[in-house]
Amino acid sequence: MDKQLSNKSKMVQTKTMKALVYDGPGKIQLKDVPLPKIEKATDVLVKILKTTICGTDLGILHGKTPSVKPGTTLGHEGVGVIEEIGTSVRNFKKGDHVIISCITSDGSCEYCKKQMYSHCEDGGWILGNLINGTQAEYVRIPHADNSLHLIPKGADEEALVMLSDILPTGHEIGVINGGVKPGDTIAIVGSGPIGMSALLTAQFYSPSKIYMIDMDENRLKMAKKFGATDTINSAKEDVLKRILAETKDGVDVAIEAVGVPETFDICQKIVRPGGHIANIGVHGKPVELQIQDLWIQNITITMGLVNTNTTPMLLKTVSSGKLKPAKLITHHFKLNEILKAYEVFGNAAKEKAMKVIIEP
Ligand SMILES: NC(=O)c1ccc[n+]([C@@H]2O[C@H](COP(=O)([O-])OP(=O)(O)OC[C@H]3O[C@@H](n4cnc5c(N)ncnc54)[C@H](O)[C@@H]3O)[C@@H](O)[C@H]2O)c1
Ligand SMILES: [Zn+2]
Ligand SMILES: [Zn+2]
Repeated sequence: MDKQLSNKSKMVQTKTMKALVYDGPGKIQLKDVPLPKIEKATDVLVKILKTTICGTDLGILHGKTPSVKPGTTLGHEGVGVIEEIGTSVRNFKKGDHVIISCITSDGSCEYCKKQMYSHCEDGGWILGNLINGTQAEYVRIPHADNSLHLIPKGADEEALVMLSDILPTGHEIGVINGGVKPGDTIAIVGSGPIGMSALLTAQFYSPSKIYMIDMDENRLKMAKKFGATDTINSAKEDVLKRILAETKDGVDVAIEAVGVPETFDICQKIVRPGGHIANIGVHGKPVELQIQDLWIQNITITMGLVNTNTTPMLLKTVSSGKLKPAKLITHHFKLNEILKAYEVFGNAAKEKAMKVIIEP
């Protein structure tokens, strides 16, 4: 009888897990929630080995992203090991170590066929947004064949967490959309993990000058170490004045990596004729477009959600040691300390934080 009971309680125990649940603006809790299950033949269940927090999660917490409903487990980044596999998954097997892409995609719809995975008709950014995410012990990944990347044997798995979102985002939405070319002068407004990822990947294309702009002195110092040629503290200095004094007539590419009207405004002021403004930031409010000044300047403005179509390429650059994203990691926490991790990442300037790793 006792044995039966203890087996039963064990079963109940194994059916729940810890997860960081969004409970409405300003509210998150580490809770016991039901273990996810395979729901479709194309799903896999991943046991999370490492996850992290994104600026987007802070945005959700500040009520910027109404698509996230209370009760959702947050998180769209991480690496893990496949625990269970749907019957039609072909590319992965139980036990494989994988990078979870922040974008889920079926690989077969019209958008996927254009490599616009961010707009997959049965996916896109759904993890930690429309379905439960990775800040938990386990996560269900739909369309696993197209939404995971196999981790090469012997790789630094912690560094590869940066491939779930930040590196492809900085690269695709900042650097590629911005059309960064050899010799360009570029400015990246925002030196958080996303701005830093744009900084690291912009260097593939050899710009001659890279300004990093932020109000956090520690992040600007890090940016100098990671390849910025110049830094501007926008709380202390007039960005426009400085850039106009040091360039002919502004920057070729202005990358917005914050997501507030003030930083978009800096970008539209510092871009030179023929230049690009590449907006990466997730905005929760309208911005004022200075079209009366810009129309005549032959400016290209781009914005968008990361497609993660360059992740396989970025994985090769990390594996070969050309790109070293581990240097973005400043803090480590256990999953049961995740509220502390949010506090530290949310007070990055005070805590000297960049990317925080959370592990079981
Ligand atoms: N488009 C996409 O697909 C995509 C993907 C991931 C993240 N994002 C977005 O990218 C943005 C940056 O993400 P992150 O993780 O680096 O966020 P973060 O919050 O860690 O970094 C933002 C940085 O901006 C700085 N900042 C804030 N206000 C500023 C101002 N007025 N002037 C200058 N600097 C200022 C902060 O000091 C901080 O260093 C967020 O909006 C996030 O939601 C977009
Ligand atoms: Zn993100
Ligand atoms: Zn699709």
